[in-house]
Amino acid sequence: MKRARVAILSGVGELIPQNLALAEELGLPMASKFDAMDRHFDFYLHYDEKGLSLHSNLGQALGAVRVNFDNTALNRRSKDSLSNQNLIKAVGLKQKQKQKQKQKLSVLDAMTGLGSDAFLLACAGCRVTMLERNEIVFSLLRDGLLRGSKGLPETRAAVAEMMLLKGDFLEKNDELGNFDVLYIDPMFPIKRNTARSKKPMYLLQQLLGEAQEETDLLSLALSKARDRVVVKRAKRSPNYNNRKPDINFKGTSSRYDVYLVR
Ligand SMILES: C[S@@+](CC[C@H](N)C(=O)[O-])C[C@H]1O[C@@H](n2cnc3c(N)ncnc32)[C@H](O)[C@@H]1O
Repeated sequence: MKRARVAILSGVGELIPQNLALAEELGLPMASKFDAMDRHFDFYLHYDEKGLSLHSNLGQALGAVRVNFDNTALNRRSKDSLSNQNLIKAVGLKQKQKQKQKQKLSVLDAMTGLGSDAFLLACAGCRVTMLERNEIVFSLLRDGLLRGSKGLPETRAAVAEMMLLKGDFLEKNDELGNFDVLYIDPMFPIKRNTARSKKPMYLLQQLLGEAQEETDLLSLALSKARDRVVVKRAKRSPNYNNRKPDINFKGTSSRYDVYLVR
């Protein structure tokens, strides 16, 4: 897949310096509105009064995403019987709570993306370290966390348990220490006529392409986890590296495979 062409839309007024600084940080060209929306670029990034957003000019992925932890859909997902959500069951939080362990479950979300899973884990009471290797996605997350830290009280409480790091899990893992749980969510194909709630993931896929890891991330993750590794898979995809999980939790479109540390 060829590299996506991304510009920064300069905007107007007091936001120009913020957009300029981002262009410098990411080494991306600045563009006027006319140029940014032109077919020369696949995507453009832009700070406006609502924060940073990524816009797609690609026909099949038209639209924009921003990381918004105050978002009603995310908040609903985080409130709807949290302990019954497959991700929460998969990380073993219920078990830990039954054992009445006071210390928070520490989770490394090694592939954070737009951070909705990390946010859910933090809302459920985990301490989450978030790792993201793509600089554009990292910038969106950083902005989302900043706004979240000034948002609704419950959003602020969750965001306080989320720490964001930039880097590739394959390169950073030595520096990272150990965690109770490692969570891996590689990119998997998302259908074009997918539900509206999944559109941001579709746009992300257009930006990043599908995962093509050669390295055995699962073995690496197991070497860092004290308790377990959770791998998110498309519902019908084969087991990661043909390794049978100890437990799995199936949802409508995805499943969580759990590998326990022996
Ligand atoms: C499917 S998305 C994760 C979605 C996320 N669970 C959510 O709730 O939004 C995968 C993300 O992992 C990142 N990624 C893939 N491989 C990585 C690696 N080896 N180290 C760090 N980040 C990685 C990609 O850039 C992408 O943003």
